[in-house]
Amino acid sequence: MPVHLIDLQKRPDLAGPADALVASVWPIFVLKDQVAGRYWHQLYSMPVAAFQTVAVETIDTVEHVVGFANAIPFAWDGLETSLPDEGWDAVLRNGMECLLKGGRANTLSALSITVRPDKRGSGLAERQIEAMKASAAAAGLNAMVAPVRPTRKAHYPLQPFEEYCSWRRPDGLPFDPWIRTHQRLGAHIVKIAPRSMVIEAPVEAWESWTGMTFPATGRYWVSGALAPIEIDLDTGRGLYVEPNLWMRYFL
Ligand SMILES: CC(C)(COP(=O)(O)OP(=O)(O)OC[C@H]1O[C@@H](n2cnc3c(N)ncnc32)[C@H](O)[C@@H]1OP(=O)(O)O)[C@@H](O)C(=O)NCCC(=O)NCCS
Repeated sequence: MPVHLIDLQKRPDLAGPADALVASVWPIFVLKDQVAGRYWHQLYSMPVAAFQTVAVETIDTVEHVVGFANAIPFAWDGLETSLPDEGWDAVLRNGMECLLKGGRANTLSALSITVRPDKRGSGLAERQIEAMKASAAAAGLNAMVAPVRPTRKAHYPLQPFEEYCSWRRPDGLPFDPWIRTHQRLGAHIVKIAPRSMVIEAPVEAWESWTGMTFPATGRYWVSGALAPIEIDLDTGRGLYVEPNLWMRYFL
């Protein structure tokens, strides 16, 4: 069945099913990022709703959401060295402040791409990235960047993020499938964003999100994480700082 891409400005009613897809696929703690908690849903109602794109498959006149792609224009001086260490959080905050305070955004940042598991490997993710690039060019933006979350890193918890990102296959392409897809579509690796997402919450919240018990203060690996969680029983808090990989597209 054909899959159509449509943005939330045209179809705001698709926000609910798109959120449901995301909630069914992502580790729950990633959705608890503090900056996202403050700004995420405003993306759906402001002019930037045009950059939130839902992939819809229609079967027997019933629409099914099979993908969701999110991006935000933000202000950047174009110097790769100045892409922020606070990657994802920084572009979401910067982009929302441009909107709320009238700043001049000149670059699109990808925020998230989700494909329903049975549609992976079908070319949909590539279409979503290409559509994002096209929307950036159509809006007159200069460049597109992405704080990339490598999809296989969580399977390699013992390797430091930097080392994992440097792995190559025998054909020279990146080992990680998602870094590879971005590179194949024209992006190049810029640098690591070491503090791209920050999730800080009571230990009880971490226990309910992960289904684990944390009996002592220390570092823990939890499923779906790209770095360890720091649990502090004295303060009763758990902290997760996620690294991402900055990649850049020329439009
Ligand atoms: C990230 C995501 C959108 C990528 O979707 P995708 O369909 O797997 O992406 P691609 O089509 O680019 O596939 C990437 C690679 O995995 C392979 N692949 C993915 N799914 C596959 C499947 N079901 N069967 C066979 N190969 C598959 C592709 O062939 C490709 O490999 P190649 O480079 O050797 O050709 C998807 O995995 C997802 O929704 N993940 C959860 C959310 C997430 O982590 N998003 C990324 C951070 S924003």
